[in-house]
Amino acid sequence: MHEPLCCVDAIAEGTARGFIFGTGSRRRTIFVLRHGGIVRAYHNACPHQGTPLELVPDAFFDEQCRFLVCRTHGARFRPADGFCVDGPCAGRSLTPVPVHVEAEMLVLDDAD
Ligand code: FES
Repeated sequence: MHEPLCCVDAIAEGTARGFIFGTGSRRRTIFVLRHGGIVRAYHNACPHQGTPLELVPDAFFDEQCRFLVCRTHGARFRPADGFCVDGPCAGRSLTPVPVHVEAEMLVLDDAD
């Protein structure tokens, strides 16, 4: 199943946006970001304790838009590959989510 998320142009450089799908055991939370002109997606779960990264909707980046930040204990992740460079889960990574662009829409692959 492919799930359309939003117009790809809606994700501006240095910004991110969270999405929630389903309910109960089928609930999935992801976020999409654009950094260096490339759009990527990750599961919205910190490798440290599994909590969502953001406390305020769509606030995934630090102030310089260099790193993604988990607001619970301050882990910092590289946007390009989700690798944690600093914090309690240093050396671990966010889980990537496959997405592609189709007719200007950002589409989540394998949404089951
Ligand atoms: S839950 Fe993310 S740094 Fe602790």
